[in-house]
Amino acid sequence: MDGVNGLQDKARIAGILERAADFFSKILWNSPEPLQYLKKRGFSDETIKEHNLGFIGNSWSALYDSFVNDYSYVLLEQAGLIVPRKDKLGYRDYFHHNRIMFPIKDSHGWFVGFAGRALDGSVPKYLNSREGLLFRKREVLYLLDTALSFDYDEVVVVEGYTDALMAHQFGLHNVVGVGGTALTEYQARFLSRYYDKAVVCFDPDAEGQKHARLAGLELHKAGLDARICVLPDKDLDEVLANEGSDSVVIRFACADWLYKCELERLMKNYDVALLSERERAKLLKGLLPFLSCSKDIVELSVYLSSTADWLGLSYNAVVDAFGSLKNNTVLPSNSLEEDLAVLAVRKPSCLQLLKAQVRPEDMSDSACRAVVTYVLRSPARILAEHSASPSFFDKDLIDPAEVLSYCKQTGLNVDDSSVYRLCAKIQACDASNLFPEDALLNFRRGHLLNHLDELVEGVLLRKSGALEEYCKVYDELISLSQE
Ligand code: UTP
Ligand code: MN
Repeated sequence: MDGVNGLQDKARIAGILERAADFFSKILWNSPEPLQYLKKRGFSDETIKEHNLGFIGNSWSALYDSFVNDYSYVLLEQAGLIVPRKDKLGYRDYFHHNRIMFPIKDSHGWFVGFAGRALDGSVPKYLNSREGLLFRKREVLYLLDTALSFDYDEVVVVEGYTDALMAHQFGLHNVVGVGGTALTEYQARFLSRYYDKAVVCFDPDAEGQKHARLAGLELHKAGLDARICVLPDKDLDEVLANEGSDSVVIRFACADWLYKCELERLMKNYDVALLSERERAKLLKGLLPFLSCSKDIVELSVYLSSTADWLGLSYNAVVDAFGSLKNNTVLPSNSLEEDLAVLAVRKPSCLQLLKAQVRPEDMSDSACRAVVTYVLRSPARILAEHSASPSFFDKDLIDPAEVLSYCKQTGLNVDDSSVYRLCAKIQACDASNLFPEDALLNFRRGHLLNHLDELVEGVLLRKSGALEEYCKVYDELISLSQE
C-alpha cells in the first residue's frame, strides 16, 4: 500500500536497514577471516567501506539482541531482519551463521535489503532479503544508485553481486547486477529511462548464456540497443582481476549483436547437413525475434547472408521467409502502449500532453488504443471520477463496460476480455514510477522501431524507394533519441 503512511513506513524501514548495515559492517571489521576472504577475492578496503559490506557470524540472535531495545519486533520483522522461531517462542535473526552481507539499495540510494553470501558452502549460496515492503527482487538492480550518479549512455548488466562490485572497484561505474539470471521487464524498462544502450555480460556457463540472450531480448523490447559480451571462461570479477579494466572495456565495446550470438550458438549446436527442411525452417523461425535487434541495414544483410549460407538457402529466400514469418509472430511489445493507457486513466494532469502527442491509430494493441481513445475523446469523465474520489483505492476510475460500449458506437474493433484485463491492470498497477515524458518518448521510439522493422524487408530486397523511406524513419529515430 502506498500513500503517506506507506512512505513513512518505507523511510523508517530504510533507516533500520541502514543501521543494520552499520551493525554488520562493524562485525566484519572485527572478523579477520571474512575480511581475509574478501581481500583474497580482490576487494579493496575502500570498496568494502564504500559499499558497506558486512558480516554476520555464528549466531541466531546477534542483531535481534542489539536492536530490540530500540525497535519493536513488528518493525524488525517488517524490515526482514528477524523471523518468528520455528517453535513460535519468539524471534531469531533472518541472516545468521557466517555470511558476508551485501546491502542492497534502490535507485534513490535507500537501503532496501541484503544479500548474504555463505562462506561455509551452506545453501542457499546467497540468502536474499524476503520480498516485502521495500525489497522486491524483480525490481532491484545492485549498485544502480551508484551507476545513476555517473553520466553514461550505456549500461552493462551483469549477473552477480561480486561481478558488479568488482567492476565498480575497477572504475566501471555503469555496471549493475541483476542478482540472479533473469532480468525482468521491470528492470529493463527502468534502465531504458536512463540509458540508450546496454551490454549484457553474464557468466560464461550455458545457463548464464541462455539468460544473457533472454535479458538481451528484454532490453531490446524496452527500447535499448542491446548487445551481449561473452567472457572467455570465468566470471567477470575474475576476468577483471586477471586482465584489468582496459581489456574488459574493449570486450564490452566488442559485444555482439543478439542476432549474431544466437546464430553462432545455433551453428555450434546443429549440423545443418543432418537436418530436415522442416527442422531448418524451425531454426530460421527461432532466429526471427533476434532479427529486429539490429537496426543497421548493412550489418543485417551480412547476417542474413551468413544465415542463408549456413542453411543452404538463397539470400532472397531468407529475406522472404523473415518477411512472412514476421507477420505471424507476436512480439510482446504492447507494454509501452499500456503505459499510455495507465497515464490516461491514472494521471489526469497529463491528458493535455497525451492529446497533443499521441495518435491512437499509431497504437497496435487494440485494448490500449480503445482505452486511450475513450479517455482522450471525453476527458471530462475521467476528471470527474478523480475529483469525486480523491482516494484512488476507493473506487474504479475506469469502467471497462463503458469503454466497450464506446467502442461499439464508434466502430472500434476490440476484444472484450482484453479490455477487462487492461482496465483491471490499470487500476491495480503502481503508477507512481511512470513519468509521462519518458512514457511518451518510449512510445514514439517503439512506434518508429516497429515501422523500421516493416521497412527492412523492402530495403533488403532492394525495392525502389524503400531505402529512402528507411533512412527517413531512421533519422527521425535518431533525432528522437537526442531529445
Ligand atoms: P552465482 O552462483 O554465479 O554466484 O550466482 P556469483 O555471483 O558468481 O558469486 P561468487 O562469485 O561465487 O561469490 C549469480 C548471482 O545469482 C544470485 C546472486 O545475485 C549471485 O550474485 N544468487 C545466486 C542468488 O540470489 N541466490 C543464490 O543462492 C545463488
Ligand atoms: Mn562469481
